[in-house]
Order: sequence, then C-alpha cells, then structure tokens
Amino acid sequence: MKITLSFIKADIGSIGGHIQPSQALLDTVREVVEREGKGLIIDSYVGHTGDDIAILMTHTEGENCEKVHKLAFDAFMEGTEVAKKQGLYGAGQDLLKDSFSGNVKGMGPAVAEMEFEERPNEPFLAFAADKTDPGAYNLPFYLAFADPMYCSGLILSPKMSKGFTFDIMDVEYTEGDRMIRLNAPEDLYDIAALLRDQERFVIEKIYSRETGDIAVSISTTRLRNIAGKYTGKDDPIALVRVQGNFPATGEVLAPFSIGHFVAGFMRGSHNGPLMPVKKNSPTSYFDGPPIVSCLGFCVKDGKLTEPADVFDHPYWDYVRDRVSQKAEEIRRQGFFGPAMLPYSELEYGGIVEKMKKLDEKFFIREGE
Ligand code: F6R
Ligand code: MG
Ligand code: MG
Repeated sequence: MKITLSFIKADIGSIGGHIQPSQALLDTVREVVEREGKGLIIDSYVGHTGDDIAILMTHTEGENCEKVHKLAFDAFMEGTEVAKKQGLYGAGQDLLKDSFSGNVKGMGPAVAEMEFEERPNEPFLAFAADKTDPGAYNLPFYLAFADPMYCSGLILSPKMSKGFTFDIMDVEYTEGDRMIRLNAPEDLYDIAALLRDQERFVIEKIYSRETGDIAVSISTTRLRNIAGKYTGKDDPIALVRVQGNFPATGEVLAPFSIGHFVAGFMRGSHNGPLMPVKKNSPTSYFDGPPIVSCLGFCVKDGKLTEPADVFDHPYWDYVRDRVSQKAEEIRRQGFFGPAMLPYSELEYGGIVEKMKKLDEKFFIREGE
C-alpha cells in the first residue's frame, strides 16, 4: 500500500516561558486531528518536544495535500485559542497567517513529508528538535548516510553499497526553492563543503541509490525568512526510514552521541550542544540546551504502532551528562566569540540598533 507520512509541528504557546505546552493544549490538538481527520487520516500521533507540538499523520493523499495541511493548521488554530485562554506564553507564535491558504509551508509550521510504497515491515523514526534550526540535522544525517565510520551498513550491506542521493536547499534564498542534488560517495567533498554551513545549506531529502526510495525528509522552514523578522527559532522535524536498504536505527542514532554544537540556545542567538532527550521533554537551562527527541514506529496499511522512545535508554543518560558538560563549558564564555551567533544570525533587533548608534560615533584617526 502506498502511504504518506505527514509530520507537522508548531509552537503555539507554552507554560512558564518557552518550556513546554500545557496538557490542555496537547489534548485540544489531538482531539481536533482525531475529530476533523475522520475519513482523511488513517492514524495519528501527537506529542511535544520542548515548546513545540508535532502531529504525525498517515494517509493516502500524497505530499502537500491541502486537506491534510488544513487539518494541522486548524488543530493549531484551535490550540491557539486554548493557549490564549490559559495565558500561555507566545500563544500562536508560529502561525504567521490567520487563515489557511492551501499549503501550511510558508505559514509558520514546519513540515516533513514522504510518500512511499510500504515495505512488508516498515520501521521509521520521527525526530523533533527544539531551540535549533534545520541545519542541526546536517552533521548526524551526513554521518549516518555517507560515512562508514558511523554507518557500517555502507560497507557491510550490498543494498546500501551504491550510496545515497542528497537534496540540499539553500535556505537563505527566499525567491523560491534553490536546490542542489548530489550523490554520496562520489560528491562527498561537495556535500561536506555545503553542509558545514548549517545556517545556509540544509538537507531536505535523502534517497537510496539502490532503489530510488525516499529515506529522509526534513523540514526546511526558516521563520525569519518568511516573516522578514525574528519570530522564534525554526525547531526542525525529520522523518527517517530505517533498516533494509537504509541505515539501521542504531546507525542513524549513533551520530547524536556527539552532542554537536548547533544554533538556537537562549533567544535563538547562541550556540549550544544538541542533547538527545526522551519524548515530551521540556527545555530548561539557559532556555535549552538545544534538544532533539526521536520516536521509532512501525506502520502497516497506514496504522501506526505505539512509539518506541529511542533516547530513553541508560546509554543516552551518559550522553546527556556529557552534553551537559559541553553546554556548561561554552556557557562559561557568555556572549564572547562562538558562544553567541554571528551578527548575520542574531535574531534580535537590540544589537543591530546598538551597532547603528555606535557606528555614528566611530571616527578615522588623523595622521596615521
Ligand atoms: C524556540 C524558542 C526561542 C524563542 C526566543 C525568543 O523554541 O523558544 O527561539 O523564540 O527565545 O523569545 P522571546 O520572543 O520571548 O524573546
Ligand atoms: Mg519557542
Ligand atoms: Mg520551540
């Protein structure tokens, strides 16, 4: 059976700052998806990572289906009403438009979708990150899909020996989707050269070169580029099919033990290490650290199993301790150097205004 996975997330308000949504908010979103999705959606799952609510839906309508996107938008709109009633912070903050206009992309919510013919057994992972942006997945998915040091399947499994195709987007370009398609392993250095710039070039999709099948889909939304000003971090989601022609689950997870530095810590303006967390985790220290959750599912005829919480394991407690140390280490230098994001990525007006005023005070010293 050919099915579509639609994974759509938004921050529509949270308790105690940018920490986590309220139970009433989650219940409302879940209820709307179940109620309004009858006859359209086969199955769904609603959860949160930090202050973002993510809706996973299965259906047969293909990617960019107006009805499915509208369903998610309506759920977030109804949720926003609850958030307002409860006085939640940032109620409706990711909904940049009041009425739906055909596709939820470009309206604020982040979207990752994929359509495929179900394999006889179909395991996949759903990642959701908070206090970071789509480039956060560049390093882990580069390592999982192109580096045999992390993905042993690239040398062990004949089904993966042809490698993977990477669709990479230039997210700074706002006139349209500026894309490049590159193949691992032969274009490896070009892929690496682009992906090192996490703020500009981000993986959108990855395909198996053995079968052409979709393996990965990542949300590429940059809210700043849509709204023209800072409206919160982009907090990306991703879907990853695993096993068979794709990396094993553990190969996809392995790079997340690095706790690599990403943008998005405090006020979306600092770098911090990405911490793998259990499902429905809040953020905390310095409005972070940046977090990523991952749920494993299997799907049959569009019906989802219950999720397996893959970062809920003693090994990841050890990783979390290490990542906490990395977070403390970079925080010790406050706003200096790489602790704070470069000028171009600073998403608060404050420093820009300050620089304008200071600029007028600069003078060229005479006689030297
Ligand atoms: C991301 C997130 C942050 C905030 C940022 C702005 O989930 O919560 O990027 O959007 O800290 O906060 P305010 O608008 O409260 O200044
Ligand atoms: Mg937020
Ligand atoms: Mg968030």
